[in-house]
Amino acid sequence: MSTVIRVENLDLFYGDFHALKKVPMEVLARHITALIGPSGCGKSTLLRTLNRMNDLVPGVKITGSILFDGKEIYGLGIDVCTLRKRIGMVFQRPNPFPLSVYDNVAFGLRVDGRSSRRQIEDIVEQSLKRAWLWEPLKDRLNDSALSLPLDQQQRLCIARLLAVEPEVILMDEPCSALDPISTSKIEELMLELKKDYTIVIVTHNMQQAARISDYSGYMLLGEMIEFDATDKIFTNPREGRTQDYISGRYG
Ligand SMILES: Nc1ncnc2c1ncn2[C@@H]1O[C@H](COP(=O)(O)OP(=O)(O)OP(=O)(O)O)[C@@H](O)[C@H]1O
Ligand SMILES: [Mg+2]
Repeated sequence: MSTVIRVENLDLFYGDFHALKKVPMEVLARHITALIGPSGCGKSTLLRTLNRMNDLVPGVKITGSILFDGKEIYGLGIDVCTLRKRIGMVFQRPNPFPLSVYDNVAFGLRVDGRSSRRQIEDIVEQSLKRAWLWEPLKDRLNDSALSLPLDQQQRLCIARLLAVEPEVILMDEPCSALDPISTSKIEELMLELKKDYTIVIVTHNMQQAARISDYSGYMLLGEMIEFDATDKIFTNPREGRTQDYISGRYG
């Protein structure tokens, strides 16, 4: 099992507010890692540091180490656009562009400018297939992405990422806008995708973390209280505070 991302001693300040405190985390290739914990504990903040999305926040200060593929992502000579292609992100609300289904998936390839029209067609088809959207949408490629039901919009956002061949997919509560049936479809898709991709997911839904993740980190007030195999976290955690949270006594 190889480590794709290693976080060590990560501190993050929003101005004076200390949002992440000496956080460690290890993300293994082709596994699902879940971040859990009560609202405001820093899950999204930690997730966003992994592809430098917090860089955009004014007054943010980050220290510590995040190695991706052995390289310091906050180090010199890192191209943030390339980093965000290799570590893509799916958000809470599906955010397809106001374009056709086809143009959404082709978007990154066109920006990149290296693929021929024919190659783009192939990659769009492959990406839609991998996100289980080809069958429902193959005759609707010119329809507006915004006309799709929410779960298809979310899977389209996943297809849009897959088209540019990421290595890691970050997901911040990707099912929170979805009903239970659509949620289970995304969960099944994640289990399929982890054969080829590394996934880090933030979720409020502890059953979801227990069902789909291999490793879980429990965060509280900016600290990583416990990080371990999901089975261990949910059946025999080391920390009383983790036990309190997973048994519903907190949060
Ligand atoms: N851009 C920002 N500027 C200042 N403070 C922020 C910013 N973003 C987040 N925070 C603060 O940092 C802390 C962690 O926020 P974060 O969004 O990471 O938590 P979370 O665990 O994802 O919460 P939730 O479960 O509600 O999504 C919170 O106290 C939040 O108010
Ligand atoms: Mg959040």
